[in-house]
Amino acid sequence: KYERNVIIVALLLSALFIFSLFYAMGARKADVTECLPYDKSYETARVNQIDKSTYQIFYVARMWSFEPAITYIPVGSEVDLFLTSQDVVHGFDIYNKNVNLMGVPGGVAKTTVRFDQPGVYKVVCHEFCGTGHQNMQAEIIVN
Ligand code: CUA
Repeated sequence: KYERNVIIVALLLSALFIFSLFYAMGARKADVTECLPYDKSYETARVNQIDKSTYQIFYVARMWSFEPAITYIPVGSEVDLFLTSQDVVHGFDIYNKNVNLMGVPGGVAKTTVRFDQPGVYKVVCHEFCGTGHQNMQAEIIVN
């Protein structure tokens, strides 16, 4: 009887430990690129305003452009970026921001960025994707 209780307590402690480990990993990963389960709605390029300073931008990459090509958001906004591709693998890099995503057909990448400084943020494709690769870009205008 007594031994069994000890074993149960030990198992509970291990479970708690493993849970905290995953929890900590999850918390730390919060601003790192995530991969989400895919559905067709990601293939519709759009911008959603969630509240005054929170936005979602759904980017669709295809040879050789990003949609939406130009997005305006206010200074101080937090933006959830989603990215998918309709043909081949494309890169997605925002100048002067720590953002580097891969647009993969049938997959969606997500990250969150804050724009605290006004400016024109250039988005470029950093994965060679054909003859129009160097023209593949977009802008996020923060003002
Ligand atoms: Cu798209 Cu390079």
